[in-house]
Amino acid sequence: VPAVAQGGGTPAGNDVIVLGEVGALTGGQATFGISSRNGIALALKEANAAGGVKGKKLVVRVYDDQSKPEEAAQAVTRLITQDKVVLILGEVASSSSLAMAEKAQAAGVPMITPSSTNPTVTEKGDYIFRVCFIDPFQGFVMAKFAREHLKLNKVAVLQDNKSAYSIGLTEVFRQKFAELGGKITVTESYSQGDTDYRAQLTAIKKTQPEGIYVPGYYSEVGVIARQARELGLKVPLMGGDGWDSEKLFELGGSAIDGSYFSNHYSPDNPDERVKKFIADYKADYNGAVPDALAALAYDAAWVAIDALKRAPDTSGPALRDAIAQTKNFPGVAGAITLDAKRNAVKSAVVLKVADGKSTYVTTIAP
Ligand code: PHE
Repeated sequence: VPAVAQGGGTPAGNDVIVLGEVGALTGGQATFGISSRNGIALALKEANAAGGVKGKKLVVRVYDDQSKPEEAAQAVTRLITQDKVVLILGEVASSSSLAMAEKAQAAGVPMITPSSTNPTVTEKGDYIFRVCFIDPFQGFVMAKFAREHLKLNKVAVLQDNKSAYSIGLTEVFRQKFAELGGKITVTESYSQGDTDYRAQLTAIKKTQPEGIYVPGYYSEVGVIARQARELGLKVPLMGGDGWDSEKLFELGGSAIDGSYFSNHYSPDNPDERVKKFIADYKADYNGAVPDALAALAYDAAWVAIDALKRAPDTSGPALRDAIAQTKNFPGVAGAITLDAKRNAVKSAVVLKVADGKSTYVTTIAP
């Protein structure tokens, strides 16, 4: 039985447990979905090599949502009604996870998002979980770093008004930065998929900020960085986990150098478990170093596997209860204990971008 079957592939039999996965395998967030799929496939391969769960092999049905929330919601309906999955993994983008959570909660099928950080995702109901921190913390991390490490007094913000993630992070950053004594000079907006940000950047330049917070996704952030430099804006850019993609360097080139972003994990971590994960991932994926998405998806899959082992059966309520009891689970992106709101409380790292890569700067604990 293959560890990964694309949607509609392997027929479900009594010898397998079928999981569902929804991800952006194409579109503006494609590296998110591909990394996540790789991380999940590695976890399932390991679990199956160790005998599977309850004497059965694990398989996963994967649907591509093309980076669109409406497609993500439809994929969940298909996974539940046609594929009869016991549990769903995904999405990365909070807007897509929000659309999915609605359907999963209504059907009573547990869903674990590896990496959606907007707080409202798990508020959709008691079947919705995540294995990452949430944006009230992530926004605080960069505000603190900007004030205390970069010593910035005046910062502008450029948000994506099509993304629940970007809007939420903007709100928290603005509030925390002000609380820490900093000033927000202006907040400008763009829409996901835009390609010209010069009007917003010109307005930002007029306010003479010492830094610009851009809590968007890599596809747009790379282009924003180039246009900012062209307009003579030389100050550091700052962002969140949405920057985490190899493509950021391709799109941003040297314009993104000297920028910083908060993230869930750094491959520089010397921990033995992390080193083994990186080596195994590289072996399976042509030497690629796993990003935070791959690490969190690997962790989400293992949390699911662990819950499947502990649950008395694979019904929705039994699995939900087992997932909710996850405590001190040793993930490669930090230990996972799920709180009463079904969120994980974890540290964040700050990474610096330079010369086509990101390097570890510091860890900030909750
Ligand atoms: N946290 C982002 C969101 O909620 C997704 C993301 C996580 C992107 C980790 C990159 C890395 O939309």
